[in-house]
Amino acid sequence: QEDIFKKVISHAKEYGYVFQSSEIYDGLSAVYDYGQNGVELKKNIREYWWKAMVQLNDNIVGLDAAIFMHPTTWKASGHVDAFNDPLIDNKDSKKRYRADVLVEDYVAKIENKIEKEVKKAQKRFGDNFNKTQFLATNQRVVDYQEQVTSILKRLGQSLEKEDLVDVKKLIEELDIACPMSGSKNWTDVKQFNLMFGTKLGANAETAMDLYLRPETAQGIFVNFLNVQKTGRMKIPFGIAQTGKAFRNEIVARQFIFRMREFEQMEMQFFIQPGTQKEWYEKWKENRMKWHLSLGMGEDNYRFHDHEKLAHYADAAADIEFRFPFGFKELEGIHSRTDFDLGSHEEFSGKKLQYFDPELNKNYVPYVLETSIGLDRMFLAVFSNSLQEEELENNTTRTVLKLPAVLAPTKAAILPLVKKDGLPDIAHGIIEDLKWDFNVTYDEKDAVGRRYRRQDANGTPFCITVDHQTKEDNTVTIRHRDSMEQERVAIADLKAIISKAVDM
Ligand code: GAP
Repeated sequence: QEDIFKKVISHAKEYGYVFQSSEIYDGLSAVYDYGQNGVELKKNIREYWWKAMVQLNDNIVGLDAAIFMHPTTWKASGHVDAFNDPLIDNKDSKKRYRADVLVEDYVAKIENKIEKEVKKAQKRFGDNFNKTQFLATNQRVVDYQEQVTSILKRLGQSLEKEDLVDVKKLIEELDIACPMSGSKNWTDVKQFNLMFGTKLGANAETAMDLYLRPETAQGIFVNFLNVQKTGRMKIPFGIAQTGKAFRNEIVARQFIFRMREFEQMEMQFFIQPGTQKEWYEKWKENRMKWHLSLGMGEDNYRFHDHEKLAHYADAAADIEFRFPFGFKELEGIHSRTDFDLGSHEEFSGKKLQYFDPELNKNYVPYVLETSIGLDRMFLAVFSNSLQEEELENNTTRTVLKLPAVLAPTKAAILPLVKKDGLPDIAHGIIEDLKWDFNVTYDEKDAVGRRYRRQDANGTPFCITVDHQTKEDNTVTIRHRDSMEQERVAIADLKAIISKAVDM
């Protein structure tokens, strides 16, 4: 699995999808740049989301709020007081860790051990192997399992922050093997705020302390009445936004899964108090449908309902995706009650209420939120699409099976040879198609090698111009996933590609 993830990272770089930020200066950790292909894939994911949320729902509108917000925003939202990660220092190694991650790692290590035992036994017993029985009867496995269960139980299934006061004790009890075996020299757990601070204004004395927003949602809350009034929106209605968010993450790893500068796609849906259960279920279902519409495999998604809830929520679930390193959160669906609008009312002294003509009364609406990381979605799509295939002639091919609707380049136009007027015909096809799709031209190397290059790039179609084209205005079109080729009229190309890639 680690190998697969390494391949994902190196393929993303080799094919111009994702580069380390400031690479020539040895990079900046947990910050990444998107290359010529990455920027297109990212834009297509954003548009696919925007279309589903804004264009197809007549009661959802968009917004583009600024990254800088008045600092009181973050007092009201709870981020100044509560947006913390628990840190613990090892006094021997002088290294700092995120306490919850340290424990999570430890759990993963034990789970790995269990898996190894299972595999060993499977090999030994072959067809007679009964996994359930083995898990229940092998003493070593039973011990490991008990360890995992007791850690999870003590810390709450999702390692909630309030539980982490116990972490130091737990680390000592477990004699945590990662990464300082036997060390008992740990500090207490400290809370570290994840917001990046900066200053507005040149005068040191009067400059105002600002934060880079850690989520886009607050820009929506503070504009709730502006949009509702000017758009004459009636509840229930939603406001959607995509944009950068910043978090000073302590554990910077897993490539673009957890970044310090990232992009969110969030939607706040404003509803009547008391209707939140119904909308929560509806948006869970809607969002799962959106994911499944990309055809990346039903088995790769699951819901994780939160048992412990954040201070602002009365229900919350994650949509988890099977990343190369296991199932992890991809999107959150949160029933946020009137916490945010109510709190902004309190801190600003301005009413944030809606007059409901149906109920004939004023109230602070409840909010249902859907929140997905664009970069994390990028990683889900990219890692799931990258495949090594064994072919019939005993060779392998690397193919990036991106959903066609998201692929950066929709078609490559390839003249079979560099002469006999074939390049001119190919350029003519490009002139015609480029108004509707991103297309590319390639005449270098044998056509088979060009196909492989496009496979690795994720291009769903290769269109080859050959000598027959001169006779009858037809070309071959090769499908990336099946590698099948068919002969079609140049005049039909636009319709064929549209059918496969239109959102
Ligand atoms: N407004 C709610 C909110 O921000 P969150 O669970 O903190 O909720 C929502 O974040 C989503 O944003 C996550 O499900 C994840 O996809 C993405 N996200 C959060 N932190 C991230 C990070 N450091 N790097 C990349 N994506 C991140």
